[in-house]
Amino acid sequence: MIIAANFKTNHTRLSTIEYLEKLDNFLIKYSIKDEVFVFPPFTALDIYNISDKINIGVQNAYPAYKGSFTGEIGLLQLEEFKIKNIIIGHSERRHIFKESNEFIVEKFKFFKDHDFRIIYCVGEPKSQREKGFSAVMEYIYSQLENIDLNYDKLIVAYEPVWAIGTGLSAKKEDIKEVMDALREDIKAPLLYGGSVKPDNAKDILSVKNCDGLLIGTASWDVDSFCEIINISKMLAEEK
Ligand code: PGA
Repeated sequence: MIIAANFKTNHTRLSTIEYLEKLDNFLIKYSIKDEVFVFPPFTALDIYNISDKINIGVQNAYPAYKGSFTGEIGLLQLEEFKIKNIIIGHSERRHIFKESNEFIVEKFKFFKDHDFRIIYCVGEPKSQREKGFSAVMEYIYSQLENIDLNYDKLIVAYEPVWAIGTGLSAKKEDIKEVMDALREDIKAPLLYGGSVKPDNAKDILSVKNCDGLLIGTASWDVDSFCEIINISKMLAEEK
C-alpha cells in the first residue's frame, strides 16, 4: 500500500523535523513495508536526517527549471533537496488557485520528463456527483485527458472534491465503483483521498482496487498518521 501525508499549509520547519523523526522511528520499529510519502510545505524542505523509508515530495511546483515566476519554485529549488516526488492537480490547486486542466497537463509533462514520481489527483465536485455515476466518470476522464496513463512513475489519487477537508468521506461502495472503472484503463496504483481518518481507513483500504491513501487533515498529527499506517499493516497481515 501507499500511504501519503499532505501537510498543505500546516507545520513549520521545526515541527516537520520533529514529525519526520517520530514517523521514521515508527516505520523502523514496526518494520513497515508500505510506501510512505510526506509532502511538507516548501519552507520546511530540507535534507532530513531520516531513513529512506520516507519519501519526501512537494505539493506543487512550477513547470520550469528556473526563471521569472514570482512566488513559485521550480526544478532548481527541488534539486537542492533531491526532491523527486510531486502532487499534481490537487483539487485545492484546481479550485482555489484556478489552475486549468491545460496548465496541470503542462506540469505533468514537465515533471514526467524529469522522471518524477507523480501523484496525479482527480475527482468530481458535488454537483457532478449528484448527476450520477456516469457523470462522475465523464468528469474524471476529462481530467485524465492528455495524461500519459502508462507513465511508470504515475500514481492516481481519486479525491472527490466534496469529501476533501469536510469530514465526510465517500462511501465504500462509491469508492469501489470509481476504482473498478479506473482500473480498466490504469495499471498505476490508485489512491483514495478525502476525509480519511483512523476510523474509516480499514474500510477504505479493503476496497478491492484501492492501493493506498492520500491523507490531509488526519495526517497532520503524527500519531494519527501512524495509526492509519498501523491499520494498513494489520490488514496486510490478515490477508
Ligand atoms: P483531507 O484532505 O484528508 O483533509 O480530506 C485530503 C487531500 O486533500 O489530499
